[in-house]
Amino acid sequence: MGWFSLAIGLVSLCSMMCKVSCIGANWGTQASHPLPPDTVVRLLRENGFQKVKLFDADYGALRALGTSRIEVMVGIPNDMLQSLASSLKAAEKWVAKNVSTHISNNVNIRYVAVGNEPFLQTYNGSFLKTTFPALQNVQSALIKAGLSSQVKVTIPLNADMYESSTGLPSGGDFRADIHDLMLAIVKFLSDNGAPFTVNIYPFISLYTDSNFPVEYAFFDDNATPLNDGGTSYYNMFDANYDTLVWALQKNGYGNLPIIVGEIGWPTDGDRNANLMYAQRFNQGFMSHISGGKGTPMRPVPVDAYLFSLIDEDSKSIDPGNFERHWGIFTYDGLPKYQLNLGTTNSGSSLVPAGNVHYLDRKWCVMKPSANLDDLQVAPSVSYACGLADCTSLGYGTSCGNLDARGNISYALNSYYQRNNQLDRACKFPNLSMVTKTDPTVGNCRFGVMIEPYYGAAERTVGCLQMPLMLVSGLFSFLLTLM
Ligand SMILES: *[C@@H]1O[C@H](CO)[C@@H](O)[C@H](O)[C@H]1NC(C)=O
Ligand SMILES: *[C@@H]1O[C@H](CO)[C@@H](O)[C@H](O)[C@H]1NC(C)=O
Ligand SMILES: *[C@@H]1O[C@H](CO)[C@@H](O)[C@H](O)[C@H]1NC(C)=O
Ligand SMILES: *[C@@H]1O[C@H](CO)[C@@H](O)[C@H](O)[C@H]1NC(C)=O
Repeated sequence: MGWFSLAIGLVSLCSMMCKVSCIGANWGTQASHPLPPDTVVRLLRENGFQKVKLFDADYGALRALGTSRIEVMVGIPNDMLQSLASSLKAAEKWVAKNVSTHISNNVNIRYVAVGNEPFLQTYNGSFLKTTFPALQNVQSALIKAGLSSQVKVTIPLNADMYESSTGLPSGGDFRADIHDLMLAIVKFLSDNGAPFTVNIYPFISLYTDSNFPVEYAFFDDNATPLNDGGTSYYNMFDANYDTLVWALQKNGYGNLPIIVGEIGWPTDGDRNANLMYAQRFNQGFMSHISGGKGTPMRPVPVDAYLFSLIDEDSKSIDPGNFERHWGIFTYDGLPKYQLNLGTTNSGSSLVPAGNVHYLDRKWCVMKPSANLDDLQVAPSVSYACGLADCTSLGYGTSCGNLDARGNISYALNSYYQRNNQLDRACKFPNLSMVTKTDPTVGNCRFGVMIEPYYGAAERTVGCLQMPLMLVSGLFSFLLTLM
């Protein structure tokens, strides 16, 4: 097949799945107070998202997606890979419960994501042996359920499973330590008409490498281009994506469809995570892929899911404090910045979530009479931050310019809101008080929590522990906040 007909083939394959301006969103639910699923589905629809990617098979989310016609990628968490790898029966049960049932309720499930970035180097190879067998078992289960033409399997992989010996896209190949495994997986995906899914994060490159050229992360063509045998790369996304295309091509799978499972930019928790950069990156990406011209090596529409739809205040901050701030919407469904997705008539204004129920307009802050030298200050703050969320405090963050009292108030309020404004959660000895005056300053938002949603099964909300039970040492890293 010549390059031209290959390109046409891919265009028609992709346009079957989505229009040129088609964009998806990742819907994660690691939040202390997630918005109700019906609210999120309405948010997706009103902003014109045609696709959504989940990280598990949450019953409430899938039920709410029924009849929305939104294409769904359901996820299998890494901690289930072992059981699905070792038992075909377990895979059949998973498919019956988490795919077949929902398809009969009109949920438009199109993909099953088996694992989430299972080959990340930080996992020390924990999922190397189970991911591929789990993929095979889920595929067999889909065939048995008669769903294999409608539902495709895939594995969302982090971009560190390929590399380039030359630093150029054309040097791309799979990481040496997992090369054979990747080949087996790619062959399996190809044999089953399934796509390759990759997550691409210029932000992480900038975060981990202080010498990374900032402009190269964005799409404004301001960076010094990378010259790869006459092809110029002006942004990291194109170069990274094409490194994968080269890796696939080199191994005989040059036309395997590619999905960008996650792409985005966080707005807080790091000096490079802010509203301006996030807006610039996400809008730049949307404009870059609109029109469907693709990348130099794959000049066809890019199929992508933004990361992420909504902030998640319970995510692990092991990767960094930015981890809880990837949303294009805040925890309560407010747009953070202008973003033209090209999917609606509302131009660059995202549509906020409707019908959001807030708790009372009140906050927990440091008493004016409280003394900064009070010995209770440090342990109270570290306790509050350990159980709530202080990732908006720190150098270069949205609340990085607060004074010492502001810092303390922020921590106490975060704990109070997380605990549904229970009186007991604002009883830090001699330190705290409840106020009806919004302490918000500029971009530093002192949030009022939304009402807990009790619809989802396995979730428990607002389990208050005693503020006085200070866990010394455990959160000592947070003492550096002081
Ligand atoms: C279905 O998915 C949910 C959510 O990921 C999971 O907890 C459950 O164990 C799955 N059911 C089966 C039968 O595997
Ligand atoms: C990976 O190994 C390192 C070093 O041995 C260890 O510190 C880390 O906890 C391990 N991570 C996981 C996820 O097992
Ligand atoms: C407030 O906390 C931030 C983040 O840890 C810190 O950089 C800053 O110095 C603190 N401000 C004061 C006045 O203590
Ligand atoms: C609160 O302040 C009072 C008066 O300054 C003091 O006697 C008391 O010990 C303080 N309580 C705590 C728990 O620090």
